[in-house]
Amino acid sequence: MKALVLSGGSGTRLRPFSHSMPKQLMPIANKPVLEHVLDGVGALGITDVGIIVGDRAAQIIAAIGDGSRFGLVITYIHQDEPRGLAHCVLLAREFLADDDFVMYLGDNILPDGVEDIARDFTEKRPAAQVVVHKVADPRSFGVAELDRDGRVERLVEKPEHPRSDLALIGVYFFTPAIHQAVDAISPSGRGELEITDAVQWLVTQGVQVIATEYSGYWKDTGRVDDVLECNRKLLEGLVPSVRGHVDDASVLIGPVVVEEGARVIGSRIVGPAIIGAGTSVEHSRIGPNTSIGKDCVLRDTHVDSSIALDGATVTGVRGLHSSVIGRNASIGPAEGHPSHHRLVVGDHTRIEVPV
Ligand code: DAU
Repeated sequence: MKALVLSGGSGTRLRPFSHSMPKQLMPIANKPVLEHVLDGVGALGITDVGIIVGDRAAQIIAAIGDGSRFGLVITYIHQDEPRGLAHCVLLAREFLADDDFVMYLGDNILPDGVEDIARDFTEKRPAAQVVVHKVADPRSFGVAELDRDGRVERLVEKPEHPRSDLALIGVYFFTPAIHQAVDAISPSGRGELEITDAVQWLVTQGVQVIATEYSGYWKDTGRVDDVLECNRKLLEGLVPSVRGHVDDASVLIGPVVVEEGARVIGSRIVGPAIIGAGTSVEHSRIGPNTSIGKDCVLRDTHVDSSIALDGATVTGVRGLHSSVIGRNASIGPAEGHPSHHRLVVGDHTRIEVPV
C-alpha cells in the first residue's frame, strides 16, 4: 500500500500564519502537523509516500526533506492551484500506479492511529473505505449517511442541513477503483473536484464502500482555536526531560521538556510545557499547556495555554493566555514610550485586549 498526503491548499482559515507559511507546518507540541501526519502513515507500515504540495512547496520540502528521517521515501507532486482533493488523486495517478493507497489530509491529526482500520481495509478490500467521526456540528465537513447495516448510502460535502452527525475525517483508503471515479466527476459549486463526490460516484455504481467510525481524538487543525486545543491534547502525553540549563532559582512542576541549549532563569514552568532548543526564559511563568519554539526569548512574562513559534520574543507581558505568537514576532514595551500601545500588526491578525 502507498500513501498520498495532501499538503497543498490555501489555508485561509489559519490566517495570519498562512500568509507566510503552509498550515501543515504549524507546530503542535513543537512538531509540524505534517510530521504528526507522517508518523501516522509510518505506523501503517507504509514507506512509499507521495506528498501533494502547492505554492508553498519550497518550505515543505525544506522541512520534511526526502523522508529518510522518518524511514519514508517521499515523492513530491506539485499542484498549481488548490483544485480539490480528488484533483490530487488525478495528479498522483502515475505515482499511485495500480496500488491500493491511503489518502491522508496533511492538516488532520489522529494521534490514536488508524492501524485497525487499515487492517480491516486490507482484509476486506472494498473499493473505498472512509473514516468517520461523530461531531456536534457537521456542516463544515463531508458528511456520511449510512444504512442500518453501516453501508454508505450517501456522502455530501459541507451540507447546510446535515442528515447525519458522521463527519468524514482526514483518512481515506482506496483501491484503484477510485481513479475511474475521479475521472467521472465534475467540479463542485466551489469549483473543486471533491473526493466526497468521487466516493459518492462509487456508491452510485453499486460497488462496496465502507465507513468505519474512529472513536479516538481527531482534529482538523485548520483554525487557530483547533491548533491550540490540539496542542493541549498532544502535550498530555509529554515525557519530561531537561537537556538545557535550569538554574537553582527556577522550579519545574509536572511534565516539562527543556530542549538543548535552552536556558531557564528564575522562572516557574508548569507542565505540560515544552521550552524549545536555544530559547531563553527569564523571570517568567510558563504553562501549563504551552509550547515555546526554538530560539525564543521570554522575559518577565506570564503565558499559559499558548504556542510561540520559533524566534518569538515576549518581554514584560503578564497574562498571555490562549495565544499563538508567530515566527520572530516581538511583543513588549514600546521603546521610549512605556505607557503607549504601539502595534505593528500584520494582515488578518487578531489582538484581544482586556477591557
Ligand atoms: O478535515 C476533514 C474535511 O477535509 C472533510 O470532512 C471534507 O470532506 C474534505 O473535503 C476536507 O475539507 P476541508 O475544507 O477541511 O479541506 P481543506 O481545503 O482544508 O484541505 C484538506 C487538506 O488537503 C489540506 O492539507 C490542504 C490539502 N489540499 C486541499 C485542496 C483543496 C490540497 O493539497 N490540494 C487541494 O486542492
